[in-house]
Amino acid sequence: MNRRRRIYEGKAKILYEGPEPGTLIQHFKDDATAFNNKKHEVIDGKGVLNNRISEFIFTALNDLGIQTHFIKRINMREQLIKECEIIPLEVIVRNVAAGSISKRLGVEEGTQLPRSVIEFCYKNDSLDDPLVSEEHITAFGWASPQEIDDIMALAIRINDFLSGMFRAVGIRLVDFKIECGRYFEGDTMRVILADEISPDSCRLWDIESNDKLDKDRFRREMGGLIEAYQDVAKRLGIMIENTPERKGSGPVLVK
Ligand SMILES: Nc1ncnc2c1ncn2[C@@H]1O[C@H](COP(=O)(O)OP(=O)(O)OP(=O)(O)O)[C@@H](O)[C@H]1O
Ligand SMILES: [Mg+2]
Repeated sequence: MNRRRRIYEGKAKILYEGPEPGTLIQHFKDDATAFNNKKHEVIDGKGVLNNRISEFIFTALNDLGIQTHFIKRINMREQLIKECEIIPLEVIVRNVAAGSISKRLGVEEGTQLPRSVIEFCYKNDSLDDPLVSEEHITAFGWASPQEIDDIMALAIRINDFLSGMFRAVGIRLVDFKIECGRYFEGDTMRVILADEISPDSCRLWDIESNDKLDKDRFRREMGGLIEAYQDVAKRLGIMIENTPERKGSGPVLVK
């Protein structure tokens, strides 16, 4: 496996060259980071859960005709994906105020927003992914006006689908972050959904108790991250066999 060419190693994932041109293998690590890597920890089993949850969501989106980079899951930590040219934006969709919007605008956490709000951050770790406007995006050429329209349409469709999907299992989709890429098929270019959607990239609250079932448990030192991610997987009907991975151990069977 290690003979594969490693294309990129990020904070949470590794990208390897795929078996066919135009494909990549996305490997989910157990590393948890927050505040742009200022806080870092390895949490056994997180990668396995995110791989499965992201697979579940991307498969459903593909089935709905929402184009994504996901081709298939290969094993417990890896999936085959279409290589695309990542648009250097983190696209955030918010339904309820939490995190940075609460701080920035003084809106109390948990306040339902009057409508879903889309925000763009420029993907640049050395700048801490600053919030940018459409003006910045087009002026600096990170995306064209048409691409921004496509990204927003994609983000809204994904939000509608995910909100309903999570609501059905007693979870409130507070917000989430996506990354999009340009995918070329012959002469045509399409904006598709890339990266991952998992409890690392969403805020998920239990509808009844408001318990956090996402990476805020790590950011805010609440503990119980794996248990929360397992709860999300279980509610979605994703059966992951076996007890948690043994520390530093080999593979764990995934059904
Ligand atoms: N289909 C794809 N084609 C090419 N690159 C992709 C694709 N999907 C995701 N990526 C990129 O792969 C990387 C995944 O790694 P990871 O999520 O660990 O990065 P990161 O450390 O969070 O840094 P980043 O700020 O770039 O997201 C990201 O840079 C992401 O933009
Ligand atoms: Mg990332």
